[in-house]
Amino acid sequence: MAAVRHAHVIGWGMAVPETAMTNAELSAFVETNDEWIYARTGIRQRFIANEGESTATLAYRAAQQALEVADILPTDLDLIVVATSTAENIFPSTASLVQDWLNAHDAGAFDLSAACSGFVYALNMASDSIRVGSIDAALVIGAETMSRILDWQDRSTCILFGDGAGAVVLKASESPGGVLASVLRSDGSGGDLLAIPSVGSIDASESRAGANGSKLYKMSMAGGEVFKFATRVVSESVEQACRLAEISVSDIDLVIPHQANLRILQAAARKLGIDVDRFMSNVERYGNTSAASIPIALCEAIEQKRVQDKDHIALVGFGGGLTWASMIIRWGISKPSEQHGSLLNRQRRHVQYRIARWRSRSRRWRRRVNSRVRDLQS
Ligand code: COA
Repeated sequence: MAAVRHAHVIGWGMAVPETAMTNAELSAFVETNDEWIYARTGIRQRFIANEGESTATLAYRAAQQALEVADILPTDLDLIVVATSTAENIFPSTASLVQDWLNAHDAGAFDLSAACSGFVYALNMASDSIRVGSIDAALVIGAETMSRILDWQDRSTCILFGDGAGAVVLKASESPGGVLASVLRSDGSGGDLLAIPSVGSIDASESRAGANGSKLYKMSMAGGEVFKFATRVVSESVEQACRLAEISVSDIDLVIPHQANLRILQAAARKLGIDVDRFMSNVERYGNTSAASIPIALCEAIEQKRVQDKDHIALVGFGGGLTWASMIIRWGISKPSEQHGSLLNRQRRHVQYRIARWRSRSRRWRRRVNSRVRDLQS
């Protein structure tokens, strides 16, 4: 009989842009102030990508860190999933760019669109693939450059969001634990409450921008409605995930929610009957980084030693779609060394990153030469 397989998180990493923007700096070009923003959201600052930074570069940096902690090689990966709403292109996917830069030449790669719930959705897809035995190791990334799709004149949205990326490595193991259960949900009837209209299968000339005055490629949001939706689904879906994992809500050691707004987290904690201290929050420093917020908060929770072996962790995301998702993880199969990775593997990873650049360039060059030769022959 085949051994039962479990999907464990064995590596994690995060990256944010170099430049932080405080509420005071925001108030220099949009009519707002630090008191209002902090009182309504709990946000003090957010990171904003510089010219050379993108969703893919942030994802790549977070991925490198996660591989370092996991102490595996990029070539060990079977799958790369990037949850994002701010991909560089419709295709190639951000995941394919990261695959190329890492030299993860045996991995499939795709982007996943489920807005701020995307990371939990992606983790669910990857862990299910591990459990059924179709893959052994996956890199799951949440990455965003929200600053590029904000309407910087709209004070009701531009104050909320920031840029960043977080990544985890999932690996198959016979050791019980890891991802125990997930709940994924959507209510498309609320799609207009939080949206980024873009040109796709509907022609741009058909005035894709919403009737509520939303602009093409810019975020629009009905803040109050989203607030009510979020507080409801966080508690409901965590309870559902606990039932599936056959644990009770009181068994949860730490909830790592999507970091949208401190008041949403406080209201959800009250509804769940969990002390708010057991809700991880770092929205103060990063703002809402959409699909990146949960893996970034996970990294910081680990760094702060708030996640211990055998702990039950609840991840919960919510956002555009509308979508929401919860997951219960029983933490830990192996503790990475203090050094994070053996020296030999670290060197091998760095060699692979160098090879990646060379391999990519030489393949492009070969394609160009081949096409020139074909042209000359015809
Ligand atoms: N600075 C100062 N004043 C602002 C402001 C800002 N950035 N944005 C709005 N205001 C004003 C409004 O114009 C309004 O003024 P008025 O009373 O004179 O009309 C007043 O503040 C109250 O606005 P309102 O929209 O009712 O505030 P709110 O308490 O609902 O808070 C949000 C607004 C956006 C902070 C809140 O609705 C929210 O957090 N919603 C959830 C958003 C979210 O998390 N989205 C992402 C989910 S993934």
